[in-house]
Amino acid sequence: MKPLWIAVSLMLVMVVAGAGVAISVRSLRISQPISFSHRLHVEDLGSDCTDCHLYAETGVRATIPNIEVCSDCHLEAQTESAEEAKLVQLIEAEELIPWQKVYRVPDHVYFSHRRHTAAAAGGIDCEACHGNVRDRETPVVRQEIRISMDFCMDCHDESDTSNDCLLCHR
Ligand code: HEC
Ligand code: HEC
Ligand code: HEC
Ligand code: HEC
Ligand code: HEC
Repeated sequence: MKPLWIAVSLMLVMVVAGAGVAISVRSLRISQPISFSHRLHVEDLGSDCTDCHLYAETGVRATIPNIEVCSDCHLEAQTESAEEAKLVQLIEAEELIPWQKVYRVPDHVYFSHRRHTAAAAGGIDCEACHGNVRDRETPVVRQEIRISMDFCMDCHDESDTSNDCLLCHR
């Protein structure tokens, strides 16, 4: 009986928590503080995703780069762009760029980038979960692919990975 009990109470907690998170995430209108272009940095300048999202293949969280990464190239303005000027100012003031995070799972869900992206594990491309980011000229303001429980489970089914509730809900 014990596992059933755990599953039932887990579900109740998650329905309540899940509903709250779902409402807050979906009604959010995100606007990013600097107009960042993935296309310019990835396609034109040739950076790799992991040059900026430092832990996308080695850690639980990919992380969104901030001034310590940008200042490798933007200590001084390279262009006349007003967006870049904002960045250079923040770097000079040693202030963080207040990026808004778009992709997130609720606290009751466990997700690790490394276990999906590392060659030795899933070896899955970023695009499978985040869409065509490399061609974006404007910041990411919504989930191009909506991260839902069905989305996770469909791929687990297709790739013969477990869909045990406690795999993702710990
Ligand atoms: C490897 C070097 C490099 C890194 C790291 C880098 N950039 Fe850039 N970025 C450039 C170069 C070079 C340009 C100018 C391209 C050109 O000549 O149009 C540029 C241009 C820009 C522009 C102006 C684009 C426009 O025309 O409006 C912005 C804004 C910008 N970068 C933001 C960022 C931010 C934010 C970060 C950190 C998250 C960052 N960059 C990290 C090299 C880099
Ligand atoms: C199997 C699906 C999947 C793959 C593959 C994937 N991601 Fe993610 N990504 C997610 C999920 C789910 C979240 C939200 C995680 C959270 O809230 O803890 C996320 C969050 C992020 C974030 C927001 C910051 C953070 O760390 O939470 C960035 C940036 C990101 N991913 C970049 C990448 C890059 C770059 C790659 C490829 C190297 C990649 N992702 C591959 C599913 C994926
Ligand atoms: C030069 C640094 C840089 C490179 C290279 C880069 N990114 Fe980003 N990425 C950013 C910045 C800055 C943001 C936050 C602003 C935005 O949304 O555009 C971001 C945001 C994201 C997000 C949304 C995260 C969230 O939850 O808010 C995803 C997903 C992402 N990047 C994936 C990728 C992928 C996939 C690649 C490789 C194809 C890549 N990035 C290459 C700097 C970079
Ligand atoms: C595109 C396919 C795909 C998607 C989408 C996907 N997964 Fe997975 N997942 C896998 C594969 C393949 C493995 C097995 C990786 C390995 O062998 O190490 C895995 C393993 C896992 C594991 C066990 C490894 C660990 O980190 O402990 C967890 C937990 C997990 N996924 C959670 C999630 C969650 C949560 C989501 C949705 C936000 C998700 N997955 C979306 C393919 C996927
Ligand atoms: C592969 C990962 C994965 C597995 C396996 C999984 N879930 Fe989920 N579950 C998620 C994700 C991701 C969310 C958050 C969805 C969102 O934010 O829209 C979630 C959300 C939920 C919620 C909150 C309500 C909702 O729909 O948002 C409940 C309840 C839930 N799961 C129950 C279960 C039960 C019961 C099982 C076993 C039959 C299970 N989950 C298996 C990933 C998983």
